[in-house]
Amino acid sequence: MQQTVSEKAPNARPLTGRPVISATGLFTPEESISNEELVASFNEYADRFNATNADAIDAGDIEPMPHSSVEFIEKASGIKSRHVMSKAPILDPEIMTPRIEDRSNDEMSLMAEIGVIAAKQALERAGRDAKDVDAVLCAASNMQRPYPAMAIEIQQALGIEGFGFDMNVACSSATFGIQTAADYVRAGNAKSVLVVSPEITSGHLNWRDRDSHFIFGDVATAVLVEDAAIAPEQHWEILSTKLKTVFSNNIRNNFGFLNRAHPESIGEPDKLFVQEGRKVFKEVVPMVAEMIIEEAEKLQMDPATLRRLWLHQANAGMNRLIAQRVLGHEANSDESPTVLDTYGNTSSAGSIIAFHQHSDDLKAGDKGLICSFGAGYSAGTVFVRKSA
Ligand code: COA
Repeated sequence: MQQTVSEKAPNARPLTGRPVISATGLFTPEESISNEELVASFNEYADRFNATNADAIDAGDIEPMPHSSVEFIEKASGIKSRHVMSKAPILDPEIMTPRIEDRSNDEMSLMAEIGVIAAKQALERAGRDAKDVDAVLCAASNMQRPYPAMAIEIQQALGIEGFGFDMNVACSSATFGIQTAADYVRAGNAKSVLVVSPEITSGHLNWRDRDSHFIFGDVATAVLVEDAAIAPEQHWEILSTKLKTVFSNNIRNNFGFLNRAHPESIGEPDKLFVQEGRKVFKEVVPMVAEMIIEEAEKLQMDPATLRRLWLHQANAGMNRLIAQRVLGHEANSDESPTVLDTYGNTSSAGSIIAFHQHSDDLKAGDKGLICSFGAGYSAGTVFVRKSA
């Protein structure tokens, strides 16, 4: 049965069940850490560690800690700097974690706060009144607390009726959120859904681990998924969404509520982000390229006709290879834009930042792909076409 938009939005057309992206929003923390600053801090920490443990190192009981290198980081990952919520403590060799004030129960959590900033921008760009939004999904790779949900906090702060919940699919949280929102629209259960991804990844990064200390950055994004009937004239039709998960131990974070049941291992490195980066690189590139090509075939679309790829932002080399397999030639920065150089890996937000910053110039009818991949393994594709 054809449904109509609620009485909250009078004079609206009947719902179509066709999901679109009406607008996106972005919050970028003011502070940023360059590779030079990061490496200077890490090397000072390594020197102090080696000095403190000189006897054990001389006796061969422990390995000396090698220096990190700006050249390695840029060559291996493509990252030059990353934004963070709390710079000074991260760079202090005695601390090397963000420091974030505890807040009372009457104050909004930091995750919700930055999520609200991104969400407000998306609503404003769509010309949407928060009252006409039906649901909020807070889709991110870490949650500040188990409950009440950050999504419900965001819902409350924006004055949205309806419902909200948190969901975590690591680096693919945002694309899994977009499919979930699109399915609500397809089923007629909602006409306007905010997918908010506040990623404070500096909290799960081990800044003392040379192999990974350069990877992550903080940010928040928002995507407004709506029924085509109520969308602004300029929007992105969602042509298809596809999700995939395949179990892998190559990216792990063993932090969890049962850690306290084994106090001996609290604070060990596996309670933060750990990965076998090289294995991830080798296994994920073919998996994702194949997934994109298969989905394009289902849509009877030649993947070479995709005007732009907004790929997950973890590694410039991975994106080069994936784009090459999908497009059939080496992609230039116009075909596969990079935000990794200044944002680092922002987990699920990466492909959304790329889309947010590099989509206005496309023309009506242009097709593109938002694609995420990461821990789980998890991967998501969202094929889109620009409206008139
Ligand atoms: N500074 C200097 N050298 C470093 C270093 C650092 N910070 N970190 C590691 N190295 C060294 C290693 O010790 C190793 O030395 P060796 O060859 O003498 O043993 C060498 O550099 C290569 O290390 P490796 O870890 O194999 O590097 P890599 O080329 O695979 O690059 C990543 C590392 C993490 C950048 C890369 O593997 C990657 O991005 N993978 C994909 C990760 C991903 O997508 N994850 C999803 C997370 S959401």
